[in-house]
Amino acid sequence: MRSTFSTRMGAIAAAAGSAIGLGNIWRFPYMTGENGGAAFLLIYLGAVLVLGIPLMIAELLIGRTAHADVAGSFRKLLPDTKWYWVGAVSVFVAVVILGFYSVISGWTLEYTWRALTNDFQASVASAQLVTPEAQASQILTMDFNAFAQSQLPPVLWASLFIAINAFILLGGVQKGIERASNILMPILLLLLVALCVNSLTLPGASEGLKFLFEPDFSKVTGQTVLAACGQAFFSMSVGMGCLIIYGSYMGDSTKLGKTALSVAALDTFIALLAGITIFPACYSYGITPNAGPSLIFITLPSVFVAMPGGYFWALLFFVLVTLAALTSTMSLLEAEVTFFNETVGLSRRRAILLSSLITWVFCIVSSLSLGIWDGYRIAGLNFFDFCDFVTSSVFMPLGAAAISLFVGWKLDRQIVRDAITNCNEDSGWYVLPLIWALRIFCPAIIFLIFLKGIGLIPDAI
Ligand code: PHE
Repeated sequence: MRSTFSTRMGAIAAAAGSAIGLGNIWRFPYMTGENGGAAFLLIYLGAVLVLGIPLMIAELLIGRTAHADVAGSFRKLLPDTKWYWVGAVSVFVAVVILGFYSVISGWTLEYTWRALTNDFQASVASAQLVTPEAQASQILTMDFNAFAQSQLPPVLWASLFIAINAFILLGGVQKGIERASNILMPILLLLLVALCVNSLTLPGASEGLKFLFEPDFSKVTGQTVLAACGQAFFSMSVGMGCLIIYGSYMGDSTKLGKTALSVAALDTFIALLAGITIFPACYSYGITPNAGPSLIFITLPSVFVAMPGGYFWALLFFVLVTLAALTSTMSLLEAEVTFFNETVGLSRRRAILLSSLITWVFCIVSSLSLGIWDGYRIAGLNFFDFCDFVTSSVFMPLGAAAISLFVGWKLDRQIVRDAITNCNEDSGWYVLPLIWALRIFCPAIIFLIFLKGIGLIPDAI
């Protein structure tokens, strides 16, 4: 018998755990910072509503109907067709995401350790003994670059992170994934609320809020729209099958629409809270927040060094980011594991071992591409940045379009109706709008954004 989540709350916690991660706390704030603040936020919210939610329902629906791994689900629902490949490619996308994602997760472990040992303060103080005019942010930038570009430490932390994931997955669906999500998600929410309240009480917090909530549309280009949609897909975990897997563990009474809505709402709420935590703190300490990927590893530690009680807040923050990363990586690794377990036929243990090993190889290459292998470039990007770009801006939108077309056109309409209404137990008022959104609206928007993003539609349009 295939396992399922034991409760509806557990199912929501697990899916929210997949969605809420570095995408919300690391990627969302810096993407917002780099793409013009509130204007980006508005496009992002639009993308969550019109693309993210229908797609999330579509993925959960595929999984819950087929009760199989990603590739197996497509095969089961439409045997002897090439749709199977959408699932197989998704597994590859999970490997690529996990490759760079576990590197950053490893950094969060290192930074939790640094916060615990009060290393930010100590490092700034000792550097300022030698060069008194050096600023904290310069010193912490050097520290971060030295660490991220080094060879062994980041790889060791990332390896530890992958091992923790593998250990949790060994516990299975209920005792591993569901239990971990049920414990970690409420802790995460509490930590973030505490951090957010602290940020809002800082002097000058309103400047940061303005940045987040006052739109400047002059900065919006086709690239911004692509970035916002890519961010929505990445943050909601849609477009690559993770939610098909979690859907496949949902019991037949789970309400798919409600689950998707709760998960999307939680995911957006947490991203906003992260923004409300980070931007006011940056402005309050006179630090510009458009720092790119290093925002939480350089900018924030500089803020913590200056903040009263900074030791405590830094520790809370990095524990929070680590936990968020963990529940997401669990879902990514699970996508690989179920493929090797159910489609390839390995035992679950072997599948976990093999998936961890593959992930580990990708993670080593990603990590080294930030240092000694930085010279090897693909399309002008190092391997790490290329993986980030190609997954969120190419594979996830294309995967999302494929999933949308699959449920909209290929799946029998009765199957969709039965899945949404739980065989006529619940109301199905939105079945038709959903089907038409998935048939035409979502794929069309995704293709347009995609063409614009890769420069095939001129900027004047
Ligand atoms: N949604 C996760 C985050 O925001 C990342 C992720 C992407 C997880 C795709 C699973 C699948 O961090």
